[in-house]
Amino acid sequence: MNNELHSLRVNSDRMRAAFDELAQIGATGDGGINRPTFNEAHLAARAWFREQIENSGLEFSTDGAGNHSAVLSFDQPKTLLLGSHLDSVPAGGRFDGALGVMAAFEVLKTIRDAGLKLKFNLEAMDFTDEEGTLVGMIGSGALAGRLHRDLLQNPRGGRQALVEGMKRAGLTEEDILRVARPQESLAGYLEVHIEQGKRLERAGIDIGIVSAIVGIWSYRLSFIGRADHAGTTTMEDRRDASLGSSAFTLAAREIVMNDFPNCVANVGHMEFAPGAFNIVPARVDVRLEFRSPDEEEFKQLDAALLERARQEARRFGLELEVEFLGKHSPALMSDQVQSLFGESCHALGLSHMSLISGAGHDGQSFDGLFPVGMIFVPSKDGASHSAREFTEWTDCVNGANVLLQTTLKLAM
Ligand code: GLV
Ligand code: MN
Ligand code: MN
Repeated sequence: MNNELHSLRVNSDRMRAAFDELAQIGATGDGGINRPTFNEAHLAARAWFREQIENSGLEFSTDGAGNHSAVLSFDQPKTLLLGSHLDSVPAGGRFDGALGVMAAFEVLKTIRDAGLKLKFNLEAMDFTDEEGTLVGMIGSGALAGRLHRDLLQNPRGGRQALVEGMKRAGLTEEDILRVARPQESLAGYLEVHIEQGKRLERAGIDIGIVSAIVGIWSYRLSFIGRADHAGTTTMEDRRDASLGSSAFTLAAREIVMNDFPNCVANVGHMEFAPGAFNIVPARVDVRLEFRSPDEEEFKQLDAALLERARQEARRFGLELEVEFLGKHSPALMSDQVQSLFGESCHALGLSHMSLISGAGHDGQSFDGLFPVGMIFVPSKDGASHSAREFTEWTDCVNGANVLLQTTLKLAM
């Protein structure tokens, strides 16, 4: 690359204006946003992005999974994907996903404005349902040809929510399952994201270069007991489903902390039925998720958690129903892309370190298909999936410039 290209930078003000406007859509008034997949605000954010693309002079593209993208075509056979997601967790932060989409969009505009001709077309993508409100990584999974019908039949957010969401967005299951792109048409995928942890901030480092993304397995565990009068049934006589589910929650923490230091487990939701002050709980549905960077460790943790769930159910005289709700496999990032990110950081005078991502990201959908790379910028206090999420604007721009320079290195 010549010197002129080395000195190319994104337009910070233009990117900021777009980022701030986007952050208003679904704003919760405390700095956060509420844009779970296909709620009104998420649909509005998608429509806003589409309009931004159409007004920018880039080409707008969409597919049967509802992925939206800006395309900068050079009439090449292969496309390099950049991007992230515009959906959020319920009451989430305004940086998670949005930064990556706005940075990718800005990179395309910068390259277009510079009048360059690259060896790959570029596409700045907003992937559908990254956060897993409905299924998890619908857009990237579908694009990779790895989203299967059974996952749509029994999604972790519930079938009804998926059906209603698809209807609101004008999508159908058949269309979603048809969007896979030929592997040979894609040159790679790059994403910039906030770290969502404290490691960069603590170390005083500008950029995290992701080496691997953890996998995620999800289950619904149903502890089933018997409804009884909560005043007249003795404590001995109860088959109280809350006891099994609570004991299991504490045990899951103990299992992970004692035996699986690289993993995490989370009980994020419990639903009590019938769910009244004065009825002994007959049933508790537990939403369990656990994460590991390693497939083998996953199997061991899976076995340990399910065995413990069975034990706790037996201990309190309960039945246990186990429903597997899908998994995302752990993924290693491309060595080549990691070293190009490092070179870009060096050229930009930014410090960097290698990190494993404890959060899931769309890049893992593409594992083994083409080179995938990801960078992180520092999160203040490590806060994320919360309105407290914050990243200094300088760090956001640093991330976008590393993305720009690495895109040029890969595609010139
Ligand atoms: C997505 O952000 C996830 O890791 O849950
Ligand atoms: Mn994200
Ligand atoms: Mn997230």
